[in-house]
Amino acid sequence: MTERTSALSGFFRRTMEERRQEVQRFAGLSEADLAPWLPPPGVEAAVFDRMIENVVGTFALPLGIATNFRVDGRDYLIPMALEEPSVVAAASHAAKIAREAGGFHTHVDPPIMIGQVQLLGVPDPQAARLRILQERSNLLAKANEKDPLLNKVGGGARDIEVRVLSGRRGPMLVVHLLVDVRDAMGANAVNTMAEALAPELARLSGGRWNLRIISNLAVHRLARAWAVFPRRSLEADGRSGSEVVEGILDAWDFAASDPFRCATHNKGIMNGVSAVTIATGNDFRAIESGAHSYAAWKAGREGVIAPLTSYEKTPEGDLVGTIELPVAVGLIGGATAVHPTARLNVRVLGVRSASELAGLLASVGLAQNFAALRALADEGIQRGHMTLHARNFATMAGARAEEVDRVVQRMVEEHTIRLDRAQQILAEIRSREKRPSS
Ligand code: MEV
Repeated sequence: MTERTSALSGFFRRTMEERRQEVQRFAGLSEADLAPWLPPPGVEAAVFDRMIENVVGTFALPLGIATNFRVDGRDYLIPMALEEPSVVAAASHAAKIAREAGGFHTHVDPPIMIGQVQLLGVPDPQAARLRILQERSNLLAKANEKDPLLNKVGGGARDIEVRVLSGRRGPMLVVHLLVDVRDAMGANAVNTMAEALAPELARLSGGRWNLRIISNLAVHRLARAWAVFPRRSLEADGRSGSEVVEGILDAWDFAASDPFRCATHNKGIMNGVSAVTIATGNDFRAIESGAHSYAAWKAGREGVIAPLTSYEKTPEGDLVGTIELPVAVGLIGGATAVHPTARLNVRVLGVRSASELAGLLASVGLAQNFAALRALADEGIQRGHMTLHARNFATMAGARAEEVDRVVQRMVEEHTIRLDRAQQILAEIRSREKRPSS
């Protein structure tokens, strides 16, 4: 038997069908095994083939719709793509509570992104910084020549910042080109401009350029949302609304005081933010990286650990939550304009600008975080999760649709959510049913 090889020469030149066949042979699969890779009917497979390299098919995630969202006085249905149970339900529930007090309110910065140019070997970095700042207008004009279309729609290069860093291998000058990218995520426009300016910047600095690339720490493109969660709607299982409010405030304080908790707090926020980012075909790695580096950056600046949300009490004792994070999403360019599902989801959202989408993402993040803290400060999240786990175990144990609920109910009552128990319960149900009735 010949040893199988992953060195598939010319793989990228093959058709999708041929690539599937090569993988099928490599992994010893049947044609039927490959069915989950096939793009759904009615969707043009070539669209995916053009998006990335070596495409063999698509990867389907569940797409859920979060309900009840009212943001800046407008109602939205929010598509969320993710694999984790409870997230869509939690966002919808939080939005329902916020809705009682008017919903979410947002404020979004203009879509300014940063392009970085790294300059090395600069003999006089402080003076070079000033030489570059003096040339600000010329540099901006030169950058804007690169993207007349962006200028036409009201965007373009807006400012220059220069930082002197003491690197581990010596000093470096870092130039930030600030670009208003309008409704795009902006990476293409910014990278093109940064590359175009680099030679001139090197000349002005007397050094040489190295990296020229966008920064995902989009501190000038923050999206903010706030909402009131009325105390009377937070009562639960014998706990007053005020007790729940105090529990959530203490939960937030935990995140603000401890990086181990803060990581999970912010992860819960991103459950919502990333799910909508994916559903709209945006670059979720950029959003995740931006959010987490913003949290770290803010922490460094303020001397505390930085949760992306904060909570306070209104004079009436209701809970008011706020969120602030960079949200570099676009509606034009990138996969949002190409991926058929993303295009459909943007139509469902009905957003008219990238800023409106950014405000929605911030609102979803706040809703998600509120829901998590409320659950954690109350009964914990496991009860809800456990029912879903129980459903998975019941299905894995072979329960038919009409048997699943009965198996789940027994496991939840017994507080025993395990595959072996699901199998036992299923066997009991079936043997009982076989017994002739007396
Ligand atoms: C789970 O995906 C997210 C939570 O852990 C977030 C949190 O703890 O705040 C529930």
